[in-house]
Amino acid sequence: MNKAIILTGITTTGAPHLGNYVGAIRPAIAASKDQNAQPFYFLADYHALIKCQEPERVRRSSLEIAATWLALGLDTNNAVFYRQSDVPEILELTWMLTCVTAKGLMNRAHAYKAAVADNEQGGESDPDKGIAMGLFSYPVLMAADILMFNANKVPVGRDQVQHIEMARDIAGRFNHIYGEHFTLPEAVLDEKGATLSGLDGRKMSKSYNNTIPLFEPEKKLRKLINKIKTNSLEPGEPKETDGCTLFSIYQSFATEEEVEQIRQRYAEGIGWGEMKQVLFEHVNEQITPARERYDALMERPDHIEEQLLEGAKKARAISSPFIQELRKAVGISRITL
Ligand code: TRP
Repeated sequence: MNKAIILTGITTTGAPHLGNYVGAIRPAIAASKDQNAQPFYFLADYHALIKCQEPERVRRSSLEIAATWLALGLDTNNAVFYRQSDVPEILELTWMLTCVTAKGLMNRAHAYKAAVADNEQGGESDPDKGIAMGLFSYPVLMAADILMFNANKVPVGRDQVQHIEMARDIAGRFNHIYGEHFTLPEAVLDEKGATLSGLDGRKMSKSYNNTIPLFEPEKKLRKLINKIKTNSLEPGEPKETDGCTLFSIYQSFATEEEVEQIRQRYAEGIGWGEMKQVLFEHVNEQITPARERYDALMERPDHIEEQLLEGAKKARAISSPFIQELRKAVGISRITL
């Protein structure tokens, strides 16, 4: 039986937060242990350049994300874990795909459309003001990430589903012109963990600046949890669990039984101060062993680098012959064979 190829990328523009952990990292690490699947996980550092032009931040983020995944127990024997920029075939494929991608398809991409809408709302006369080609054609780079390894399943957040559909579209177009080279990928949505709330009650997201970084030192973690917004009900007054940020975060880290107990305590009127203490202790207890491994790994960047290079070797064992096949298919080859 051929194993299902599961592939996903993490853009290297910041440090992972609790929302990333619950929504993407935790399920991906669990899947890395599934011997019936062949996972490919990578640091999408070329994607980082689309939204971040601070070299130190991109470099630092690659280190932090790699350390995070390794500290959390990623199975690098089963999963191929690499840095996008260590696999130059991906960029070469990006160009081949760019040449078969309809510009009109890219016009419809959400990220581009949102940037145009911002300009129009701001009364700009040029709707494309400040929009780089990287942002415009970024779905093509993402298609190359996916098609390079003929991924079957791509776990992503809701905002990325359109890009997987575009990758299918682009793959189909290439196959139609040059023959069947690519598998059409499918998006896999992780509904359950997708919406962890942040400090202000909105979805936890870098763009809202309301995140709790995953491996924040204990003191910092406590401080941030204390900052989470609640309503002004007093201790002793019964409280709703629905829509409560403290509860929703607790739920993401607890068993059903534990959740039931807390639900009961809400009904009995647990005070917000006490609930924050409960939440801190619970999250902290779960994170501490991984945080210790993380801190140790951050002291050994050479060890992280070694693992990434190992991953790149495995990735290139596939991408290198495949790009030769694709070159041949499009007519890029030596004149004398
Ligand atoms: N663009 C994705 C994001 O912002 C990250 C990403 C890059 C990715 N390449 C990918 C995800 C390929 C899945 C497959 O979340």
